Amino acid sequence: MAQVELLPEITKFVERPPKMMIGGRACEADSGETFDVIDPSTGQKVTEVPRGRAADIDAAVAAARQAFEDGRWSGLRPGKRTEVLYKLGELIKRNISELAQLESLDSGKPINIASGEMWTAGDVFRYYSGWPTKVFGETNPTQENMFVYSLREPVGVCGGIIPWNFPLIMAAWKVAPALAFGNTIVLKPAEQTPLTALRLAELCLEAGVPEGVVNVVTGFGEEAGQALAVHTDVDKIAFTGSTAVGRKILHASEENLKRVTLELGGKSPNIVLADANMKRATKGSMLGVFLNSGQVCTAGTRMLVESSVHDDFVSALVKATSSMKLGHALDEDTQMGPVVSERQLQTVTNYIDIGRSEGAEVVTGGERDTGLGDGYYVQPTIFAGVRNDMRIAQEEIFGPVATVIEVADVDQAIEVANDTMYGLASAVWTNDLSKAHRLARGIKAGTVWINGSGLYDPSVSFGGYKQSGFGRELGVHSMEAYTEVKSVWVNLK
Ligand code: NAI
Ligand code: MG
Repeated sequence: MAQVELLPEITKFVERPPKMMIGGRACEADSGETFDVIDPSTGQKVTEVPRGRAADIDAAVAAARQAFEDGRWSGLRPGKRTEVLYKLGELIKRNISELAQLESLDSGKPINIASGEMWTAGDVFRYYSGWPTKVFGETNPTQENMFVYSLREPVGVCGGIIPWNFPLIMAAWKVAPALAFGNTIVLKPAEQTPLTALRLAELCLEAGVPEGVVNVVTGFGEEAGQALAVHTDVDKIAFTGSTAVGRKILHASEENLKRVTLELGGKSPNIVLADANMKRATKGSMLGVFLNSGQVCTAGTRMLVESSVHDDFVSALVKATSSMKLGHALDEDTQMGPVVSERQLQTVTNYIDIGRSEGAEVVTGGERDTGLGDGYYVQPTIFAGVRNDMRIAQEEIFGPVATVIEVADVDQAIEVANDTMYGLASAVWTNDLSKAHRLARGIKAGTVWINGSGLYDPSVSFGGYKQSGFGRELGVHSMEAYTEVKSVWVNLK
C-alpha cells in the first residue's frame, strides 16, 4: 500500500493557513473567525479557513462590481482574454500533483482519480479560452429604413455556489464561462472542500486575471451562500447542489430577479437490456454508481434490468463490486475512498437502514467499514429486489448505494426510468440500435449515455430536466447563461 508523500507545497499551504481572496488580496473573515477543514480519510483536521459571512460577501461583491464596471476584464481585447484563460488552464495542468493532493486530502477522493480531475478542470479553462473571440451578435431584417443588430454582452457580477463532490471541476464550470463571456465572479466553495478553490484564486492572478475579477469567499451555506444568493448587486447565480437548496436559491434571487441556473440532484436510471454486452454493462454500471463513492449527481443509482438477465447481472455486479479496493485517498491503489463528511456518512448509512426496513435485500456491502480507522468509509452496497416506489429508489442518497429493479421490457424501462422527480442523466446498455434510440427519446433527462456512463466534455452541454434544475452549463448553450442580448435599432433616414 503505497501512500503518496505530501509535497512540501501542501504542507506550506495548509500551515499558512489559507485565506480568502477578495479584490486580489488574501484576507481573513471580517469577524476573524475560521472553521476546520477535515480529511475524510482519517477524520482529522487538516487546516482551517476563514468563516466568511454577509460582510465578507458584501466586500467580495463590491470588488467584483468595481472590476466589472471599470472594464478591466470585459474591456480587454478578446484575444487577450483568450491568452489569459488558456494560460490558466496550462497553470492548472502544471500544478496537477499539488492540486490533486489538496483535493484528495480535502474530499477523500482517491489520488489517481483526483489527478485526472485536475486535468479536466484545466481542460475546462482551455475550452473556454476559445470563446471570447467567438461571441457574435446578429443583424436583423426589419424595415427598409432601419438597421437592426444585436450585441451579446456579459451579464455582470456572477455568484457561483458549488458542492463538495468535484470541488475544482465545479469551480472551473462556474469561473471559466463567467470569465470567457466577460463577467466577474464571487465563488463560494462548499464548506467541506474549500482548499482547491482558494488555490485556484491564486492561480488566476498568476495567469493574469485582473484583481477583483475572481473572488473566493469560504463559509457555510446558510451564512456566506445565502448572503450571496440574496445580494441585490449580484446579477446572476449559478448553483450546483441539492434540490432543496436549489429551491432556496431561487427564492433568494427574487428581489432583484437574478438570472439563475440550477444544476441539482438526480436519481439516474442505468438500463441494462437482455441483448447488452454483459461484461461491458457490468463494469460500466459499477463505475457509474460507485465512482467518487457514489457522490455524483449523475450516478446511475437505479439499475433497471431486463428480467431474463436480471439474476446473472446481479451476480456479475456483486462479483465485480467486491473486488473494488476501498481505502485511504492517498493510497495509490485505492479505487474508492471515504464519503466526504461524518454527516454524509450518517445520511448514507441511514439510507441503508431504510432500504432494509423497506424490504429490499442487501446483496453486497451494507455497512460502514471500520477496518480502515476513523475515516468515513462505507462499503459499496447493492440492494436487489427494489421497487421503484421505495425511498431508496426515489431519494438521492449520494453515497455508494445501488438499487436494482427488475423490468419486463423496454416500455416498462422507460416508464420506470421516468417515474422520478429528477431528470439529470441516464445510461443505456444494449446492442439493439432501435431500442437504444427509443430509450434516448423516451427518457426525460438532460443526458443519455448509450453503452457508456459518466462521460463529460466541456463542449457538451449539461443540465437537468424536471427537478434536476434548469439552464445548461458547458458547450455552446452556456453562452445563454452568461450573456444578455441587446437589440440596437438605427434609424437610417
Ligand atoms: P448543499 O446543497 O447544502 O450544498 C451545496 C452548496 O450550497 C454548498 O456550497 C453549500 O454551502 C451551499 N448552500 C447550502 N445551503 C445554502 C443556502 N441556504 N443558501 C445558499 N447556499 C447554500 O448540499 P449538502 O448539504 O452538502 O449535501 C446534502 C445532499 O445534497 C447530499 O446528500 C446530496 O444528496 C445533495 N447534493 C447534490 C449535489 C449534486 O451535485 N447534485 C452536490 C452536493 C450535494
Ligand atoms: Mg447543506
